[in-house]
Amino acid sequence: MSRDEIIAILTHASTMIPLATRAHTRGESRKPTGRILASLFFEDSTRTRLSFAIAATRRGVTTLDLTASGSSISKGESLTDTARTVEAMGVDALVVRTRASGGAALIANAVACPVINAGDGRHEHPTQGLLDALTLAQALGRDDFDLAGVNILIVGDIANSRVARSDIACLGALGASIVCVGPPGLVPHTLEPLGCIVAHDLDEHLENADAIIMLRVQSERHGQNQSTGIAGLGSLREYRSLYALTTDRAARLSSQTVIMHPGPMNRGVEIDAAVADGPASLITTQVARGIAVRMAVLDLVLG
Ligand code: CP
Repeated sequence: MSRDEIIAILTHASTMIPLATRAHTRGESRKPTGRILASLFFEDSTRTRLSFAIAATRRGVTTLDLTASGSSISKGESLTDTARTVEAMGVDALVVRTRASGGAALIANAVACPVINAGDGRHEHPTQGLLDALTLAQALGRDDFDLAGVNILIVGDIANSRVARSDIACLGALGASIVCVGPPGLVPHTLEPLGCIVAHDLDEHLENADAIIMLRVQSERHGQNQSTGIAGLGSLREYRSLYALTTDRAARLSSQTVIMHPGPMNRGVEIDAAVADGPASLITTQVARGIAVRMAVLDLVLG
């Protein structure tokens, strides 16, 4: 999306924040619109799946939920046949998560209704990029969503991270400078054309950061040749010593630096519990802003 399109969604999402609360839902929940959103999650999710369902409820949209284990996917039905079948039932939009990169685009080419990408393999996770931008802009007081001059570190398994790709695209479009840090096997220089600087020494970059986005090591996406060690590092302990946001490293950050993580977290691996739960952490705010962003996205695609 262009910078203007991103800002339009974030501006609308900002207006959704007061409506994304429990108090609002109890009081004056939007009347049913008769619209139906089919949620097709072919890979596990906690945050994205539930927050789309909650966002839909708060916009008066009914959600139908399908997962790989409880559907005819387990009998060999393809993603596109599944999507066409669900569309034929008369749903208004699909929200899809796939294990395969490009899965959302494949489905979007196979159906006529709108398709929202809720994460496709290592490729993109657009609503995560948007909710990270909304959270960060608010925390830094950038009400116009202009992130010029903001230095962001993204740390961890960038090569396997759809969140990193969407964050680089979204935060970069808003003007932020982005440094991706991790071991060469997980943060190769081939990532630079995405619009980031690649670095391998976290300690060199800590003090200049306005925000740090920590990522999980996505072992489930590593090939068999990486089954021992982590992308050239000997062990998880070695990875942690070089790239974890420990309490010691967090103490070296500016008092203004904010800490983010898209989840799920591995506490004690890439981030210490005291840091994740500390005063600089925006992690639960990210989850809360996910509702407002997804409400705005539903408004965009469903009218
Ligand atoms: N951030 C994120 O996508 O989390 P889930 O996998 O739990 O949806």
